[in-house]
Amino acid sequence: MNLPDLKQAKKRTDNEVVEKQVEYNYPKAFVNKKYFLRTYGCQMNVHDSEEIRKYLEILGFSETTVLEESDLVVLNTCAIRENAHDKVFGYLGRCKHLKREKPDLLIAIGGCMSQEENVVCEIKTKHPYVDIVFGTHNINELPKLLLENKAKQTIEVYSIEGDVYEGIQYKRDSKITAWVDIMYGCDKFCTYCIVPYTRGKERSRKLENIIAEVEELKQNGYKEVTLLGQNVNAYGRDLNMGYDFKDLLEKVAQTGIDRIRFVTSHPWNFTSEMIDVIAKYDNIMPYIHLPLQSGSDGILKLMGRRYTKEEYLHLYNQIKEKIPNVSITTDIIVGFPNETEEDFLETLDVVNTCKFDSAFTFIYSPRVGTPASLIKDNVTMEEKEERLQRLNTLVNAYSLEANQRLVENIVPVLILGENEKDKTRIYGYTDTMKLVNIEGGCDLIGKIVPIKIKEAKSFSLDGEIVKEGVSI
Ligand code: SAH
Ligand code: SF4
Ligand code: F3S
Repeated sequence: MNLPDLKQAKKRTDNEVVEKQVEYNYPKAFVNKKYFLRTYGCQMNVHDSEEIRKYLEILGFSETTVLEESDLVVLNTCAIRENAHDKVFGYLGRCKHLKREKPDLLIAIGGCMSQEENVVCEIKTKHPYVDIVFGTHNINELPKLLLENKAKQTIEVYSIEGDVYEGIQYKRDSKITAWVDIMYGCDKFCTYCIVPYTRGKERSRKLENIIAEVEELKQNGYKEVTLLGQNVNAYGRDLNMGYDFKDLLEKVAQTGIDRIRFVTSHPWNFTSEMIDVIAKYDNIMPYIHLPLQSGSDGILKLMGRRYTKEEYLHLYNQIKEKIPNVSITTDIIVGFPNETEEDFLETLDVVNTCKFDSAFTFIYSPRVGTPASLIKDNVTMEEKEERLQRLNTLVNAYSLEANQRLVENIVPVLILGENEKDKTRIYGYTDTMKLVNIEGGCDLIGKIVPIKIKEAKSFSLDGEIVKEGVSI
């Protein structure tokens, strides 16, 4: 067994990353067997699940969305906050119950929680019925682990980050929009965050491999790619090949694919050259997710974010000036240890200045092994909850305002599908990533069409199809 060692993680920065090809030569040993896959967490995990699905289907499994029908359950977990843990352990209870009725049921746990030493110990001691634990650095070993499945629990998790794998195949969730990994891991070590420990150091894929993937997606009819990394602005720096994120963006734009977006941008690595490239190309969406975390310099420093309130606002203004109609969204944490009412008011001040199009807001959750978890938390849960509520009220008011500004405008919308609850409606996203619900028009799925916005809500827009001949 190879247990992750959180305390060592920061030291593991000088081992050489090797590019390797993924192996797909597996027997179809699980024909007529069904798998149930549940994904928690961010887009990285959603995309990793597409990789997992492909392996499982190569082995002969087919997917079911009904837990009780499955022969294999895979939980792709997230460790970002305590409630993510609770959800997984809660669900594991259901799986345990099912295994009592179906003793041959296989249970596999992967994702970021598997990279946490304390979680692995808990699974080992309290959940012996879990068959396989695999990590974020060895997803490609899942077929082998399933084929070799032993009577006792198998834990195969690596604390040394993986190499960069090429040739990965995916069973993608969509035929219209696709995730494209451009880099793995994170070297920022924000003091509250578990990700650098669960995903390892920053490793970029080579530019030519990313471009080849985008070209192939375009040829297969994909309309939109999202370039994925925990901190995309740091792309390429580990490669020392003379190119960086602005060069990658430019090359991806030149493939001519209809829409390009990227997540997530850390304000610290955002250069004005990058903003210029985003402004220059019509197919790079005017949408930037720019996590703020806090508006207080003192708290930002404690968080290890490497920018001040003023620097954040300067970057924000630069982006707004250079990219017309840009939509900027953010992440904010409230109730970090030592956060005073004055600190919190600084955060509200930034929200009032930036009027974000939308924001994900969180109560600080201490994570085992991170430096912040060692700071005495002197903010009561009551205060944290009260701040979150005040913040959400403000954030939602600005989201509604931003949406209201679009009413009576005609905007390009990429139509993604039918509304699940109301089949007479379709939905899609503007190039600023706003959700639009539209009456009728199933034939438009997969197309970018001009839509007239009729009504604004806090989290979505209602629009109508514009008669032919209207240009946008
Ligand atoms: N790489 C991205 C964020 C990834 S995690 C970035 O740096 O911007 C997504 C969000 O979860 C973070 O932006 C942060 O707001 C939140 N988050 C991370 N760790 C957290 C913690 N310990 N408690 C509460 N929220 C947290
Ligand atoms: Fe976590 Fe900070 Fe890295 Fe984002 S940049 S993943 S918040 S350590
Ligand atoms: Fe969660 Fe891991 Fe993503 S901790 S947010 S799934 S990188």
